[in-house]
Amino acid sequence: MDLDKRLERVAVLGAAGKMGSGITLLLAAEMARQKIRKDCGDRCYVLHAIDVSDEALSGLLSYLRPQLTKVAEKSIVALREAFAHRDDLVENFDIITAFVDEAMSVVRPSSKMESAADSRLIFEAIVENKGVKIEVFKKLDAICPDAYYLTNTSSIPIKVLDEGAGLDGRIVGYHFYNPPAVQKLLELISSERTRPELVELGKELAGRLRKKVFPANDIAGFIGNGHFMRDILHATGEVERLKGDLGETGAIYAVNRVSQDYLIRPMGIFQLIDYVGVDVCRFIMQVMTEHIEGETLQDDLLDRMADAGVMGGQYSSGKQKDGILKYEKGRPVGIYDLDKGDYRLFEDGDWTKKVDQKLGEMPEGAASWRALLMDPKKDEKLATYFGNLAASDALGAELAKTYLVRSKEIGEKLVKGGVAESPDIVNGVMMNGFYHLYGPVNEYADLVVKAKA
Ligand SMILES: NC(=O)c1ccc[n+]([C@@H]2O[C@H](COP(=O)([O-])OP(=O)(O)OC[C@H]3O[C@@H](n4cnc5c(N)ncnc54)[C@H](O)[C@@H]3O)[C@@H](O)[C@H]2O)c1
Repeated sequence: MDLDKRLERVAVLGAAGKMGSGITLLLAAEMARQKIRKDCGDRCYVLHAIDVSDEALSGLLSYLRPQLTKVAEKSIVALREAFAHRDDLVENFDIITAFVDEAMSVVRPSSKMESAADSRLIFEAIVENKGVKIEVFKKLDAICPDAYYLTNTSSIPIKVLDEGAGLDGRIVGYHFYNPPAVQKLLELISSERTRPELVELGKELAGRLRKKVFPANDIAGFIGNGHFMRDILHATGEVERLKGDLGETGAIYAVNRVSQDYLIRPMGIFQLIDYVGVDVCRFIMQVMTEHIEGETLQDDLLDRMADAGVMGGQYSSGKQKDGILKYEKGRPVGIYDLDKGDYRLFEDGDWTKKVDQKLGEMPEGAASWRALLMDPKKDEKLATYFGNLAASDALGAELAKTYLVRSKEIGEKLVKGGVAESPDIVNGVMMNGFYHLYGPVNEYADLVVKAKA
């Protein structure tokens, strides 16, 4: 059965969640594009949006309409062409409304798993729990015996889900990044059992959804989280090392600043942990530890933060919740002090200034991530900056150098360990999924190693 045929009957599980709602949006738009094709004939498209929460499902519908309108507005030229045979659609407004109506008409919200019966493609974005996912797959497989399953799991090996549910190779890892409608990256994870036809279908669909596909092998955490989780452990190890001198909040502040300003990343490592959620990161580490032999990913600082109820994550509006850092208007304004049981604000006294002084002067050529993002001379400027960083012996520069070298080691280990086929794929995932300006396997780390030798 080809992709067009499979796209006629689709289900999204966990459709009202953060990832599921974005996946539902992408699919509803693609199914509407198919439906309005001149040669569509009498084909019927159904997208079952399934979630255990009825309340959340009503929120899904209010989310979809304005988002679909945005999609239609952005593709008005293509839509005008697709609707050329419809004389009744003249103004842009008519075309946009017609497209949104077509897309909304394919979506069938439901809180009953049985609604998915006869689905040919099933996207799964429910809770990250192996047992729950396997139970759901087993139930569904009894009513959708020919379906292909595309799971959004962040960490669980696909083979484990496949064997647990008896899917016989009809499952692939389809790892969208958050938010799925915006993020271009898609990690496509095939296990040794995944059917080649499903992998090809996944690639073809990704092209239609305008995603950049990066293949990953089936090792827990895959590429993105495989790098991110180990990067976290490096950062927290540095906090442990520095806290005798800077205090724990001072050390968190320093490492967060180094990982953002000195490495020229979009946000510091502790802000990124908050974005993903402290408990989510902890959980991914547990899953990786369970499935990767000879490596324990566990972190005392994250455990203590989570035990103190410091979780991060986002409100349903998308607003950042306080976590290891406290936020005002989306910007960090303080750091959680585990001894005090409250946030230590940046503006309270001069403690951040003192840490900044210890970090020392930024190397010459330093620029913000935002400033370099669209700069045509970005690579040249990065090379000059990292050359200066390599030559500096200020504390901040030393921390950045160690960070850079460790990040490269992690990237190389992902290739050696067979998670990624090549350094370019690791770099592609980190640049497209985490918006790094340069991949972890880079020549800047070599400059640092040379300068140290
Ligand atoms: N949030 C992220 O940044 C992110 C990124 C990539 C991948 N993921 C993965 O995507 C999946 C979903 O994560 P999320 O952040 O969207 O979670 P979420 O909690 O926002 O959404 C999960 C949804 O699934 C629903 N649900 C739970 N059990 C269900 C069941 N048995 N049947 C139907 N619906 C059920 C919940 O009601 C909820 O609406 C997880 O596997 C996660 O690891 C998350």
